[in-house]
Amino acid sequence: MTGHRIDVGSPDDLPELMAVMTAAFDPRFGEAWTASQCLALMTMPGTRLILARAETLLGFALIRTVVDECELMMLGVDPATQRRGVGLSLLNNVVSIATSEQASAVFLEVRSGNPATELYIRSGFEKVGLRLRYYRGNKGETFDAETYRFMLR
Ligand SMILES: CC(C)(COP(=O)(O)OP(=O)(O)OC[C@H]1O[C@@H](n2cnc3c(N)ncnc32)[C@H](O)[C@@H]1OP(=O)(O)O)[C@@H](O)C(=O)NCCC(=O)NCCS
Repeated sequence: MTGHRIDVGSPDDLPELMAVMTAAFDPRFGEAWTASQCLALMTMPGTRLILARAETLLGFALIRTVVDECELMMLGVDPATQRRGVGLSLLNNVVSIATSEQASAVFLEVRSGNPATELYIRSGFEKVGLRLRYYRGNKGETFDAETYRFMLR
C-alpha cells in the first residue's frame, strides 16, 4: 500500500483536485465534473472533501450527507498511484465519516462497465439500481449508470 495520510479538504484544494480528476477520468465517458460543478457542490451544506496525500495529492472523495443518506459523488485516484490501496483507503474513510454522521447508508452512481465497480463490490457495496443513458461522453454517446448501496445500519 502507498504511504499516505487522509485529510479533510476545502475549496482551496480545488486546483489540485482538478488535476487528479482530469488525469483519472477518461473524457470519452462524461463522468468527470468541471471545477465550477465541484465548487458548487463543496459550498452546499453536508458536503465533505476527503483527500489522500503524500507529497502531492494522490486521490480524493467528494461526499454529501442529506438527512440519513450519504452519497459518494466522486472518487478519483491519480493514475500513477492506482492499484496501491488509495481508493480503498478513501472509501473506508467515506464509510467511517458516514457512520459518524449517523447515515443509514452510502449510495453512489458509477458507469456500467467502469472497473471501479470491482472496488465497490469488494468493499461490500451492492447494486440496487440502473439508470439508463445517465452519462454523456465527449462524442455524444450515452452510458448507463448503476446505483450501489452500502448499508450502515
Ligand atoms: C476507481 C479508482 C478510484 C480505484 O482507485 P485505486 O487506488 O486504484 O484502488 P485500490 O488500489 O484501492 O483498489 C482496491 C481493490 O479494488 C479493486 N480494483 C480497483 N481498481 C480496479 C480496476 N481498475 N480493475 C479491477 N479491480 C479494481 C481491486 O480488487 C483492488 O485490489 P487489488 O489491486 O489488490 O486487486 C481509480 O481506478 C480511479 O480513479 N478511476 C478513475 C476514476 C473513476 O472511475 N472513479 C470511480 C467513479 S466515481
